[in-house]
Amino acid sequence: MGNRMVLNTDISKGRINRNIYGHFAEHLGRCIYEGIWVGEDSSIANQNGIRTDVLEALRNINIPVLRWPGGCFADEYHWKDGVGPREGRKRMVNTHWGGVIENNHFGTHEFMMLCDFLGAEPYISGNVGSGTVQEMSEWVEYMTFDGESPMADWRKENGREHPWKLTYFGIGNENWGCGGHMRPQYYADLYRRFQTYVRNYGDNTIYKIACGPNIDDYKWTEVLMKEASDLMDGLSLHHYTYPGEFWKKKGSATDFDQNEWDITMSRALYMDELITKHSTIMDHYDPEKRVGLIVDEWGTWFDVEPGTNPGFLYQQNTIRDALVAGVSLNIFNHHSDRVQMANIAQTVNVLQSMILTEGEEMVLTPTYHIFDMYKVHQDAENLPIEVETEQIINGDVSIPKIQASASIAKDGTVNISLCNLSTQGEGTIEIDLRGKSYHDADGRILTSDHMSDHNTFENPDKVKPQDFQVFSIAENQLKATMPAMSVVLLSLKP
Ligand code: AHR
Repeated sequence: MGNRMVLNTDISKGRINRNIYGHFAEHLGRCIYEGIWVGEDSSIANQNGIRTDVLEALRNINIPVLRWPGGCFADEYHWKDGVGPREGRKRMVNTHWGGVIENNHFGTHEFMMLCDFLGAEPYISGNVGSGTVQEMSEWVEYMTFDGESPMADWRKENGREHPWKLTYFGIGNENWGCGGHMRPQYYADLYRRFQTYVRNYGDNTIYKIACGPNIDDYKWTEVLMKEASDLMDGLSLHHYTYPGEFWKKKGSATDFDQNEWDITMSRALYMDELITKHSTIMDHYDPEKRVGLIVDEWGTWFDVEPGTNPGFLYQQNTIRDALVAGVSLNIFNHHSDRVQMANIAQTVNVLQSMILTEGEEMVLTPTYHIFDMYKVHQDAENLPIEVETEQIINGDVSIPKIQASASIAKDGTVNISLCNLSTQGEGTIEIDLRGKSYHDADGRILTSDHMSDHNTFENPDKVKPQDFQVFSIAENQLKATMPAMSVVLLSLKP
């Protein structure tokens, strides 16, 4: 059958919100502490306590928005413990994640500084599970009120004269689970109540995000949309990818076989069905698509690396993770009419991270390189594509060989992201370009010889992007031959 694609370069399906390329950093394991925050007195080079190497690497991928402080941690976090002189901050136990001591040295001011340094918008998750309406309300006042008020005065005493700009605020996290084990009707009422006191001060307008469903809990979406969509701007969705069983053995990040590869791909592709079905429910209550679907936790979740703290969720990252990232970002691009933000879990040292650190060493993961290659889609116009591709069949599992998305940037460059999901054999795709003629293109590729290939501190460049030239353009026909297990970016010049 072969692989074919039709690409219309002169029809836009709408803008791809740059926030689809968002990230998530929780007080979990070595993500915030060690991974991002080392403190001003550290021997590791840092800018006001934030490690310089990580900062520079993250700046390079243009993080548009960063979600913090959790995750499950958010519904146990009391923000007042994390402001004021650091040596006086309350120490607490991080009960969700490893039972370690949290010294609250990284709090609101440090997070806002990180966002400033990154040029990213902050997305803060408030505490509904164990917090109060007053506490949430005062946090927003502390961050955004200009003028005289108890919280604004306290912020000034703590060294910040002017309010911060804060747009994205989550009213709780996973309130169907670690955020309070609530039923949807109960949470919908709580959402209505809590959000009332999340105020817009001055010209700061908050985009309010309600806790949405876990994976395929369509009932949760139905209830939330019915009872509270008039008071929300976004509804979250969480879906993680793993080949095994969540509460038993999810599978190793590096030691896996063909079956696990194929199942991992099919579970990543499942995101498309989830978004489609949740969006259908949302369309019923919000046909104008005003409320965004905010996929604020996604990515691979494997067994922790042997010998590491099970509560720290530290896992390696292979070319398989790169394919999961490529496939997922392609799906988000396709659904840019409803998906207004997505945040991969998590930035450093936790789950499908961009970066791994060990002491003063740092390594970029294959997933990092995908975010680097795909940043061209941020705020670009989503282009309609049709793909006809071979299917890879393995028992009950059926996955497409080639999956793709495309967009056109402001300067007229057409960027096509192609994923070859097969572990064996190259894949040739013929692309029928419609709307305009293109004669010149650049190519980048991320691939590797073995499905478990990954970067280590000893061999940090095992999996890294290369120039790609196995393509031709003639008479509006673009033909590319991709090796197995590869992600290719083709940029067609206007
Ligand atoms: O990302 C790890 C955890 O996964 C988050 O804290 C929680 O929201 C989800 O269950």
